[in-house]
Amino acid sequence: MSKQPIRVAITGAAGQIGYSLVFPIAAGHVFGPDQPVILQLLELPVALGALEGVKMELLDAAFPLVQDIVATDSADTAFGDADLVLLVGSKPRGPGMERADLIRENGPIFIGTGKAIDANAKADVKVVTVGNPCNTNCLIARAQAKRTNPLNYTAMTRLDQNRAKAQLAGKAGVPVASVTRMGIWGNHSPTMYPDFTHALIGGKKATDAISDHAWLDGPFIKTVQQRGKAIIDARGKSSAASAAWAAIDHARDWHRPTPQGEWVSMAITSDGSYDVPEGLIYSFPCTVDEEGQYHIVQGIELDEKAKARVKASADELIEERDTVKDLLG
Ligand code: NAD
Ligand code: LMR
Repeated sequence: MSKQPIRVAITGAAGQIGYSLVFPIAAGHVFGPDQPVILQLLELPVALGALEGVKMELLDAAFPLVQDIVATDSADTAFGDADLVLLVGSKPRGPGMERADLIRENGPIFIGTGKAIDANAKADVKVVTVGNPCNTNCLIARAQAKRTNPLNYTAMTRLDQNRAKAQLAGKAGVPVASVTRMGIWGNHSPTMYPDFTHALIGGKKATDAISDHAWLDGPFIKTVQQRGKAIIDARGKSSAASAAWAAIDHARDWHRPTPQGEWVSMAITSDGSYDVPEGLIYSFPCTVDEEGQYHIVQGIELDEKAKARVKASADELIEERDTVKDLLG
């Protein structure tokens, strides 16, 4: 095995999502079957015992690609020379809460995290923020990026894209792989806009493949927007394995060219496209090029209703940003 190992740092690695996330990474699901990895796992001191157990299980799985496993409560150690950082460590919401209710509790975590990434990771480190409210937590971490590339700080809306694809596939009675171009716009919150109008099913417009347009413009959107709550109501805990796999999808698809004609949804720094205020961490349909750079898909025609939805989610993100103004310095 001649390739240099890729260093992957994961915060909250002993939590629900962390536990589901480390094994697929170790097995090669992000970087492929011939790319060695070093796992750098961060936890709070109180969870170090559990983290040691995760490390033991990783060792016991005897993954050939894993060159080393670091289990630590030191952010400086965890982010050392990291190529990819998955920011999971934070509190999940419980029943009756919105994700934004976590902002004052989780937001401050991302200041220290951002500082430690900036001080220790590779300058071109790629950051995927999962902890909620993920768009605004990402904004907080990105505010600390002085040496690292601020454009490489992203938040995860891939779970929403995956959920939306599954809903469309179920309604159309086709395998989920038939659904492409499922763009998620905005915040990972109930204002997100899953844009069915540009989605394709078996290469045809979803609005041609599914004749029930009232469902598309109503229950479909609502189901995707509220899926996190539905899972909490059913499980008593927030989504974990599906979130971990979405993080795998996000990271993998950011490291390889997007297949021709497909889109990937990622919350990234807005460059003002589609009148989304510059600088917000906002989910757009994107493509990734050969160099692993993402690009917002341009030229998507949005009708008045879609424009209003895109703006409503941007307005909500501006409000969230204002709530954490003191954390952005
Ligand atoms: P969890 O409570 O099971 O695990 C979180 C872990 O993070 C815990 O082990 C905790 O000790 C650790 N932690 C807390 N603060 C930390 C810090 N400062 N540094 C390092 N570790 C820290 O929670 P979970 O179910 O794994 O969820 C984690 C986060 O992911 C939550 O905020 C949740 O809302 C969010 N989430 C986001 C999405 C998404 O689509 N973006 C989906 C699901 C969950
Ligand atoms: C989800 O979408 O499942 C997560 O963001 C967890 C939550 O709080 O909804």
